[in-house]
Amino acid sequence: MNHYAKSNEKVVRMRKPNDFTRIGFKKGVYVLICLLAVTAIFLSFTTLSRFYPQTPLLFPSTHGEQTPAVELIDNIIEKLVEQIKGAEDSTSGSNQHPELKAMTLKHKSFLEEILGLMGSLKTSVAFHKGKSHQDEFLAAEAHPLSRGNQTHNEAIEFFLTEEIRKYAMVKPNRLGKQNFMGVNGTFMSMGHACFFMKDELEEYMDYDVGDFCKDDWKQAQRLMVNGCDPLPRRRCFSRAPKLYTNPLPINESMWKLPDDCNVRWSGYRCKSFACLAANGERKGFFKCSDCFNLSHHEAPRWMQSVHINQAVNLTSDFVIEEVLSIKEGEIRIGLDFSVGTGTFAARMREFNVTIVSATINLGAPFSEMIALRGLLPLYLTINQRLPFFDNTLDIIHSTRFLDGWIDFVLLDFVLYDWDRVLRPGGLLWIDSFFCPKKDLEDYLDAFRMLRYKKHKWVMVPKMDKDGEEVFFSAVMEKPPRPF
Ligand SMILES: *[C@@H]1O[C@H](CO)[C@@H](O)[C@H](O)[C@H]1NC(C)=O
Ligand SMILES: *[C@@H]1O[C@H](CO)[C@@H](O)[C@H](O)[C@H]1NC(C)=O
Ligand SMILES: *[C@@H]1O[C@H](CO)[C@@H](O)[C@H](O)[C@H]1NC(C)=O
Ligand SMILES: *[C@@H]1O[C@H](CO)[C@@H](O)[C@H](O)[C@H]1NC(C)=O
Ligand SMILES: *[C@@H]1O[C@H](CO)[C@@H](O)[C@H](O)[C@H]1NC(C)=O
Ligand SMILES: *[C@@H]1O[C@H](CO)[C@@H](O)[C@H](O)[C@H]1NC(C)=O
Repeated sequence: MNHYAKSNEKVVRMRKPNDFTRIGFKKGVYVLICLLAVTAIFLSFTTLSRFYPQTPLLFPSTHGEQTPAVELIDNIIEKLVEQIKGAEDSTSGSNQHPELKAMTLKHKSFLEEILGLMGSLKTSVAFHKGKSHQDEFLAAEAHPLSRGNQTHNEAIEFFLTEEIRKYAMVKPNRLGKQNFMGVNGTFMSMGHACFFMKDELEEYMDYDVGDFCKDDWKQAQRLMVNGCDPLPRRRCFSRAPKLYTNPLPINESMWKLPDDCNVRWSGYRCKSFACLAANGERKGFFKCSDCFNLSHHEAPRWMQSVHINQAVNLTSDFVIEEVLSIKEGEIRIGLDFSVGTGTFAARMREFNVTIVSATINLGAPFSEMIALRGLLPLYLTINQRLPFFDNTLDIIHSTRFLDGWIDFVLLDFVLYDWDRVLRPGGLLWIDSFFCPKKDLEDYLDAFRMLRYKKHKWVMVPKMDKDGEEVFFSAVMEKPPRPF
């Protein structure tokens, strides 16, 4: 009600409501003229900046004062805001010609787009002024992106699809005010490797706003694993399975194969959970080919010692109960960074530990499976920093993910990131890491680098490769590091 009253007040302030219909068309024409003027000014700016690419719009000015360019842009922004407000108010009147209303709305969105561009322009001009006059203050306030040269705008220009440009543009807050996060605009991110996959990304972002997206989860994942991560957001509706049925109730969902209807099977060799469980198609998800066989393969995991190597009576699989007893009652939340169907989280749940399972859909619908079991999937690639704050998690468990394929520097970055999110006293559980025997020492050095307290630390020869490969498992505790 309050809002309504306010907007009415605004209308009254601006114009008497009964004048609307009378001056409706006049106003439309006026908006159009304004629009053309703004476009002309804008075009002249962009042309100018083409001619002087290194220092666009740099006008001489005295120290600390607004340059004419910034002033001019401010004026334009002010006018734009005024126009947008006017358009808003005029469309809020109900007794308006529908065609005119549609036109006004179109103008309004166009004006808003120009306002966005103006905002970007302003930050970059403000920066160049800041740089040339050592005006650190302004430079610091400008968006970090505009602190470089024109790279960002050039970067946006790189993509031909309008929707990518719209996404990547810095979005100034409405009315140019700072928001509660202390920034004047929002920059939506996408992985820099997106630039190396221009064609694929353009195809991915080629859709009609408000329409259905293509069923292209696989292309999306391909982009992500190749480093275009995060992917840009899209403004289309994602596809759902044809007939989504309710997931099983929580008292049944954990150990039963879910309904096949609840998954989009496009892009997989198997088209049902039974097929995945029967392990008929080993290809495609070799990393975890038994993971869908809940009854035989999954149920015993981490619950009883499986003697991988009878001769030396050693196993690289630790039992959850043992690991948790290291820190009785202290382990409450954690992350499982593995390829799997969430069994680790399911078992930890029985010990009242909440685990988020990070995985992507490598050859099988792992994310859906985890979710349908009633567990929390985190769709995350190895490319990204973990979305957790420092010193927050009690445990990180990882299996079948980090193996002998991983580059040492990458492993370093990953381990430091895991260390960051683990709390002091938290546990890092490296579960059956395997690699060629000759690389083992180098990998172990990477784990030793953390200088964690070792609770469990075993190496077991892997039998299926003539003993050329070894398993390594460890449970380590992050030490406190007071500053
Ligand atoms: C950000 O907004 C604040 C408050 O409106 C303003 O003082 C400041 O100049 C703006 N900064 C930029 C770079 O536009
Ligand atoms: C601007 O950015 C480009 C591309 O990153 C870089 O090659 C160039 O050296 C930069 N120029 C200046 C003046 O910083
Ligand atoms: C699960 O819970 C529902 C309702 O609480 C109950 O009707 C059903 O019998 C339970 N299923 C099993 C397998 O316990
Ligand atoms: C799981 O594996 C066992 C043994 O390999 C097999 O007998 C069983 O049929 C499999 N389960 C399913 C659901 O396919
Ligand atoms: C292996 O360990 C089990 C119990 O952990 C023990 O009973 C058995 O004797 C051991 N076998 C050998 C060969 O050491
Ligand atoms: C988990 O929590 C429930 C309810 O608080 C409790 O009854 C149960 O004993 C707990 N389980 C374990 C393994 O601690």
